[in-house]
Amino acid sequence: MRQKVTTILGIETSCDDTSAAIVCGNTVLSNVIAGQEVHRLYGGVVPELASRAHQKSIVPVVDVALNKAGISIDDIDAVAFTRGPGLLGSLLVGTSFAKAFCLAKGKPLIDVNHMVGHVLAHFIDRQGHEKPKFPFICLTVSGGHTQLVLVEDYLSMKVVGTTRDDAAGEAFDKAAKMLGFDYPGGPLIDKHAAEGNPLAFSFNKPQISGLDFSFSGLKTSIMYFLNKAQQKDPDFIAKHLADLCASIQHVIVDVLIEKLSKALETYPVQDIAIAGGVSANSGLRSSLLAFGEKHQKTIHIPPFEYCTDNAAMIAITGKYLFEKKAFSNQHISASARLESSDENYLIRL
Ligand code: KG4
Ligand code: ZN
Repeated sequence: MRQKVTTILGIETSCDDTSAAIVCGNTVLSNVIAGQEVHRLYGGVVPELASRAHQKSIVPVVDVALNKAGISIDDIDAVAFTRGPGLLGSLLVGTSFAKAFCLAKGKPLIDVNHMVGHVLAHFIDRQGHEKPKFPFICLTVSGGHTQLVLVEDYLSMKVVGTTRDDAAGEAFDKAAKMLGFDYPGGPLIDKHAAEGNPLAFSFNKPQISGLDFSFSGLKTSIMYFLNKAQQKDPDFIAKHLADLCASIQHVIVDVLIEKLSKALETYPVQDIAIAGGVSANSGLRSSLLAFGEKHQKTIHIPPFEYCTDNAAMIAITGKYLFEKKAFSNQHISASARLESSDENYLIRL
């Protein structure tokens, strides 16, 4: 008798995207994402507004995900949701929805660590795509996190480096704000950088030993540089926008690639992957590909839709947890600062 392929409904509400996805085996049947324009006006995510927007969107987003996948609630084997880390009010919406849904429909509930989801997005089926081979290193770079993860198996990962202050995406967004861009400014820096000279301006790189990162000093260095330049010429930013974007992108990408290279000295793996919103950055993508070519490493870059927050990555992680029967009970609660050590499959070395 043929075994039924596991069908998982994934729910992601950790920050400012409400997302629901249906994954059948490793195939994505639907991956619906509702963004929140409201934060653009405020220069960053406003937690209270984010949770209100999730409340409005969660039911219609799940409805569309089911319709697009062409399945009914009865076809779902389990519901996987992001427990953390993230904004507590936002996480609570997805957690409450998933718990209520499972209670009402008698389905198993699975809690997922958002950071593990970013890594396992690499195991979604895509035509012509080779999945990473274990063990591999994943550089997970997003608006809230910067992690170097040694991935030994689907559910066995070690965080070997992390940021001590700002995340890489935060460095992009804060620099973008100084240049006058709306939130999130990371993609706009990327866009303008394409026209600029990455060596036009130089900024002090953080000097942190080991595999950890720090971006707050870089942010201050960019701020002082811009203040000084604008005192001499108030139109400095407008006149040099493309060069500024290219130089800022260059220094952030350089820091990431340097640490990755250092990690490979201790963990000499063949495969390297990137994940998280910042992995959409074209400078990072091209530098990583060049690095791979130079050092003969196999590079894995996710398609854009699986770089930024999405529920498909939560559903695929749910699939691996389902196979291990790693179910949650109704007492589970959201956790904003879900520590790596809370999970036996993602530990901080
Ligand atoms: O993974 P993600 O969607 O959400 C979090 O979990 O944080 O990442 C969002 C981050 C934001 O900081 C955004 O500016 C950044 O990813 N980002 C980019 C690009 N696209 C998204 N940063 C630089 N270049 C991009 N093309
Ligand atoms: Zn994320």
